[in-house]
Amino acid sequence: MKAMKEYHPPLGNRDAMRLDFNENTIACSPRVKEVLGRISAGALTRYPEREPVERTVAEHIGVAAEQLVLTNGVDEAIHVLFETFLDAGDELLLPVPTYTMYEVYASATDAQAVTVQAAEDLRFPFERLLSAITPQTKIVAIANPNSPSGSVATREQIVEIARRAPAAVVLVDEAYFHFFGETVMDLVGSVPNLMVARTFSKAYGLAGLRLGVLAGPVDLMKWVRRVLSPYSVNSLALACLPPALEDTAYLNWYVGEVLAARTEFEASLDELKIRHWPSRANFVLVEIGEKHKELVRLMSAGGVLVRDRSSDPGCDGCVRITIGMREQMREAALVLRKTMEELRSEGNE
Ligand SMILES: Cc1ncc(COP(=O)(O)O)c(C=O)c1O
Repeated sequence: MKAMKEYHPPLGNRDAMRLDFNENTIACSPRVKEVLGRISAGALTRYPEREPVERTVAEHIGVAAEQLVLTNGVDEAIHVLFETFLDAGDELLLPVPTYTMYEVYASATDAQAVTVQAAEDLRFPFERLLSAITPQTKIVAIANPNSPSGSVATREQIVEIARRAPAAVVLVDEAYFHFFGETVMDLVGSVPNLMVARTFSKAYGLAGLRLGVLAGPVDLMKWVRRVLSPYSVNSLALACLPPALEDTAYLNWYVGEVLAARTEFEASLDELKIRHWPSRANFVLVEIGEKHKELVRLMSAGGVLVRDRSSDPGCDGCVRITIGMREQMREAALVLRKTMEELRSEGNE
């Protein structure tokens, strides 16, 4: 515990355009809101019952109910998975840069996190990852698409990693699946060491409810179930899940908006001559250089929150910008343009 770093996400005073946490930038489905409004005071007196909703979710994503658990966000899925499978002497293998919480939760175990640095193009470091597999590798965690880079691993690469690390659980974290459209969820059960996570925090717009899914083969899930708290998913979240799943029209509409906005926003970045990496998710990583902190500050003063990722390995001078609706991103592009002009003119003084 003493060696663990403290992690404080930069929350607080976020009444602005929130392009800093890769959330849905507007709202969840109105059907969810309606269900929330109908929940009675009496219903809150009961402990939450997860299983019926797990069956609904399992059917929706095409796995057996025994292969799936609901969790308090994907963060809990990661935490529980690491607690379940990582012991002293074990290794967690991570391509970096990647999602911060993998290292945070790994550091709460006695295992060692082994990181594999992506090259300058930040593409998924497939070959290097394969070479880093050892008999001690107990979990390989792959965010697909990855954050903060937006890069992706192919299905073939994931299957090969699982084949080459038979003693390890390969966790594919599909938090941004809806913006990417490709999945390995259909391989759950047939690839014996593959586990897949999904979240309701991003495209569905339910980050505040804390809802995640972890799916995997029954013989691995049985250990996860022992560690998982029975009531970590609360009854409000459980009530909201079925209407969120049913409203596919809302989800498709939101995802369509984001993808169109991403294309437009990338064109603005090109016009502003800001380097950026290709993204398959609802955010884009941009290179600002040494004035990255100032850019975050100035954009925030202009009403747009973005996220400094400069301390991520290989991301020196980089900032991550969430993609929201087209109209929002047009406004964000204007604020970015103004900020860049200010920063660039300072540089010429
Ligand atoms: C790759 C990845 N996994 C998981 C999460 C967290 O998801 P949740 O809100 O379901 O805990 C995030 C959030 O930023 C993420 O980027």
